[in-house]
Amino acid sequence: MRLAEDFSLDLHRPLPYNSAFTKRKGSTTPMGFFITFEGIEGCGKSTQVRLAAEHLSHAGYEVVATREPGGCPIADAIRAILLDARNNAMVPMTELLLYAAARSQHVAEVIEPALAAGKVVLCDRFTDSTLCYQGFGRKLDRELIARLNTLAAGAIRPDLTLLMDCPVETGLARAMARINAGNAAREERFEQESLLFHERIREGFLSLAAAEPARFVVLDGSRGIEETAALVMKAILPRLPAPQSGS
Ligand code: TYD
Repeated sequence: MRLAEDFSLDLHRPLPYNSAFTKRKGSTTPMGFFITFEGIEGCGKSTQVRLAAEHLSHAGYEVVATREPGGCPIADAIRAILLDARNNAMVPMTELLLYAAARSQHVAEVIEPALAAGKVVLCDRFTDSTLCYQGFGRKLDRELIARLNTLAAGAIRPDLTLLMDCPVETGLARAMARINAGNAAREERFEQESLLFHERIREGFLSLAAAEPARFVVLDGSRGIEETAALVMKAILPRLPAPQSGS
């Protein structure tokens, strides 16, 4: 298992096609399960990705934990451009295209092969973040964003999306505490945006969740870490096939 911090460990290893999930809809094609974690700044999803990866791994699943933007060397290089607070001249369209470029590489190099190998893939942010940050937040055309999301992700769609919802003030206070502690000094471009910008993003996530209730589970991100982790597993486990013994 990889934790959220070690995003590129698997890249040069041949991928074994010993799927835990060969049974989807009678298909014999190995197919994993794709879970995305979404929410505003400081909603606690990165911690929950890490804990879910640990729990699922202990439960016998082969797990890949990754994140966007980033998740592989080329996408990590794009991430560095996107999140650098000095790049405040970046126009919204450039930002959108860079997120799409990073995703295209990440899907091809990490997510698609892991799913094809039957793994459970946990991704910290994915296409819904683009719809909410660049669409609801930056006010770029959401149909265009949806088309770019499809271009970048191909047929890969989340099987389950956990939305960690919390008030903007709570999330931003946590994110600023992280920055002040020196852990995120170069990743503060979005934290510098107005409260209104983050409110639009929160509302965007909630409206996407309301539009797709079968895919989304909305969790209260203002609760404690352990309590939320239990709710995360309660959302995930019933949707997963049992791990194959010996996998
Ligand atoms: P990160 O430091 O990983 O923030 P967080 O811990 O809140 O996930 O930075 C990711 C930032 O990128 C975050 O502010 C949201 C933003 N983002 C977009 O604007 N569009 C996207 O498509 C994605 C994936 C992320």
